[in-house]
Amino acid sequence: KHQRIVFSGIQPTGSPHLGNFLGALDNWAKLQQKDSVTYYSVVDLHAITLPQDPKVLRQSKHDMAAALLACGVDPKQSALFEQSKVRGHSELAWIFNCITPVGWLGRMTQWKSKIEKSHTSHAQALLETSTSAGTASLKMGLFDYPVLQAADILIYKATHVPIGDDQIQHLELCRDIATLFNNNTKSKYFTKPEAISPPSTKRIMSLRDPSAKMSKSDPSDFSRINLFDEPKVIQQKISKAMTDGHKGISFDTENRPGVSNLINIYAAVTNKSVDDALKDMNGLHNSQQLKQAVSDAVISRIHPIQSEYVKLQADPSYVQQVLKEGAAKAQVTADETMEQVYKLMGL
Ligand code: ADP
Ligand code: NA
Repeated sequence: KHQRIVFSGIQPTGSPHLGNFLGALDNWAKLQQKDSVTYYSVVDLHAITLPQDPKVLRQSKHDMAAALLACGVDPKQSALFEQSKVRGHSELAWIFNCITPVGWLGRMTQWKSKIEKSHTSHAQALLETSTSAGTASLKMGLFDYPVLQAADILIYKATHVPIGDDQIQHLELCRDIATLFNNNTKSKYFTKPEAISPPSTKRIMSLRDPSAKMSKSDPSDFSRINLFDEPKVIQQKISKAMTDGHKGISFDTENRPGVSNLINIYAAVTNKSVDDALKDMNGLHNSQQLKQAVSDAVISRIHPIQSEYVKLQADPSYVQQVLKEGAAKAQVTADETMEQVYKLMGL
């Protein structure tokens, strides 16, 4: 009998959006099953790889925890906790830092794109200096965070990690680090975790630029639907979503990315295949009508989550208690792992 151990984390920066919900959080709730142990973390140590205001960060962590509970994370079934409250995450990351070659991290495409972005934003400065100037201003933690992610996962000996495509390379790194640790310590201590990837209909693109994924870090608020946007705002955002000049409604991600994204959103919130979603749209003739249908479907899907969130926000001490108990639960496993890891390393 195989027991599934699941770990996943979400950064507490910004409001969760529809992409986070459909691509990740909804699945977190579904993964809470009898034969599974589930660890869900608000990953504040990852958040500080970029500058944060302490007051804002503290509140954002609370809000994200409330959001996770509203999305169906059940504290009776899962350990829901703040990453920084379980010390083992940082401790194991340090051990991994001491065995992981710098080159492995330099290969990470997310890092490379961050360097490129920093080059663009500091283009002027870089005209006069070497290309390494952009890298020099980026923080060690931002370079190194995939190692912390490996620690997040391996400290619970997670067997399954729900992730989006954007994180596949980091999970690969985690698997490599597990192997490296085993080889270095002549042990079989860590087992390699598997990815659980959401179906493509659950990958939600930006409403303004359907070639980019919907993201918290997009500066335009009209690019995303936040989970706690009011119905009126949701309607507005969807009505301004980028579509195209083609007639009618058809699913064609290459030539009609905007329309296809809306159809995908509809399919995802109604738990239907794209084909079945298109059947629902038989009577619709233009993107205006499509937008109305998508907007209605989104609003009715997230309405119960929004009501639950309001209730949870009225009881902050409950949320804090959940986080405290979650950390205590996670800590037991984390401590056991660290004890073994220290022993294997001769510490
Ligand atoms: P963001 O880019 O908004 O900061 P995160 O990187 O914090 O999102 O991702 C949190 C979780 O949500 C991850 O599991 C990620 O794969 C998932 N996710 C993020 N954006 C999307 C999206 N647009 N569609 C589907 N899933 C997404
Ligand atoms: Na992110």
